Amino acid sequence: MAGVFISAGGPKPLTEMTMPPASDPWLPIRTERLVLRDFRAGDFRDVQAYAADPEVVRFMHWGPNTPEETRDHLARALAQQADWPRLEFGLAIEHATDGVVVGSIGLHLRDAANRTVEIGYCLNRDYWRRGVASEAARALVAACFGPLGLHRVFATCDVRNTGSFGVMEKLDMRREGCLLRDRQIKGEWRDTYLYAIRADEWAG
Ligand SMILES: CC(C)(COP(=O)(O)OP(=O)(O)OC[C@H]1O[C@@H](n2cnc3c(N)ncnc32)[C@H](O)[C@@H]1OP(=O)(O)O)[C@@H](O)C(=O)NCCC(=O)NCCS
Repeated sequence: MAGVFISAGGPKPLTEMTMPPASDPWLPIRTERLVLRDFRAGDFRDVQAYAADPEVVRFMHWGPNTPEETRDHLARALAQQADWPRLEFGLAIEHATDGVVVGSIGLHLRDAANRTVEIGYCLNRDYWRRGVASEAARALVAACFGPLGLHRVFATCDVRNTGSFGVMEKLDMRREGCLLRDRQIKGEWRDTYLYAIRADEWAG
């Protein structure tokens, strides 16, 4: 994927821009209750609160995190912000009223030629079932099909992860298939649902 950058208007060849932009104009994203923004070093405590929770990371390939692992993870997220071209955006989900980072949501450019990205999300358990992930994912997908000019957004999850595919279905993403024993998570093969939505289907 080298030679491509993702920014307003969709992925473009690097030849169209020789210098990184001063900032990503589509960030931060604000919704009624949330701010989706780049991580900061000061987010450590909030991130560790969810990353160390075995229930939160049950279906993730990482965790539960030690403080050291969360420090490494944050360091990678901060380093990623300086990447050019930047193909991955791991964003903090901040509660707008009190500034608490209640989770994360990510965007990964998987296929630049076909303007396709993958999204994923993870929330502190205290904030589950309040529509937070749906609100964050809806705003991120809107940015994908709005300022970022992308064609297709997909997400995957363990078939047992009702909460995760509940969010995808809330956004009217379509279940396109079930991949059988395609990934090993925490030492066990899992079955994976694939969900997707295209720009021409997105109603916002
Ligand atoms: C998956 C996760 C992000 C969902 O976050 P959330 O903010 O609770 O989700 P929402 O409140 O927006 O829920 C959207 C819909 O999903 C479904 N849903 C969410 N959590 C559910 C659960 N625990 N059980 C059954 N359905 C659930 C519901 O249909 C819900 O809509 P409704 O409340 O109107 O009925 C959260 O459970 C989480 O962080 N889990 C651990 C990390 C993880 O597995 N991430 C996904 C990896 S692929």
